[in-house]
Amino acid sequence: MSQNEGKRLSGEKAAEYVTDGSIVGVGTGSTVAFFIQALGRMKHRIEGAVSSSEQSTRLLTELGIPVLDLNASGPLALYVDGADECDPQGRLIKGGGAALTREKIIAEASKQFVCIIDASKQVKLLGKFPVPVEVIPMARSLVARELLKLGGQPIWREGVVTDNGNWILDVHNWQLTDPVAMERDVNQIPGVVCVGLFARRGADVVVVDGVLRA
Ligand code: 5RP
Repeated sequence: MSQNEGKRLSGEKAAEYVTDGSIVGVGTGSTVAFFIQALGRMKHRIEGAVSSSEQSTRLLTELGIPVLDLNASGPLALYVDGADECDPQGRLIKGGGAALTREKIIAEASKQFVCIIDASKQVKLLGKFPVPVEVIPMARSLVARELLKLGGQPIWREGVVTDNGNWILDVHNWQLTDPVAMERDVNQIPGVVCVGLFARRGADVVVVDGVLRA
């Protein structure tokens, strides 16, 4: 099966988790784009969506799905999003599309996080994919020095500005044997807005190539 086909199947499978009359949390990326298409086909059954990025907001709006503010919606029943890596415990690296901060906020606000991936995203140990860290621009060098001390090799994703007006450092060659501890440590560096490690709150359900992972 091609990677794209795996993404399509997972995106469509996630539609089965959507309940009538609900507001759905929507992630970002090419896998989520398939989910948004499926959501468009059932838009009359939902109240709307809370979006994690300008990119997803555009796709949702084009399909006539109301995009709501998380402050108004309150807690959500369901959040659907992709990932760059997923370990056997459902812990994730996210943020390849630079939308990690809003993604983490919506994941935290949601009762169930359904992660949709193709088989290539499955890993035994997180860390082959560079871990994105969103930083306040003036803190870029300071945060990079601290990330070096934590054993990673940060590289500035030059030219990319997040939806929140911040910058991204991608941390390469990280030994992530304890991703929960690393997530906590990175969060403590002044100037860090968000780290793309979703370990403390990972996925509740993982769908791989359209099939629910046991
Ligand atoms: C965006 C993300 C995406 O979920 C992640 O990059 C996977 O994207 P894709 O589905 O296009 O492979 O975290 O910030």
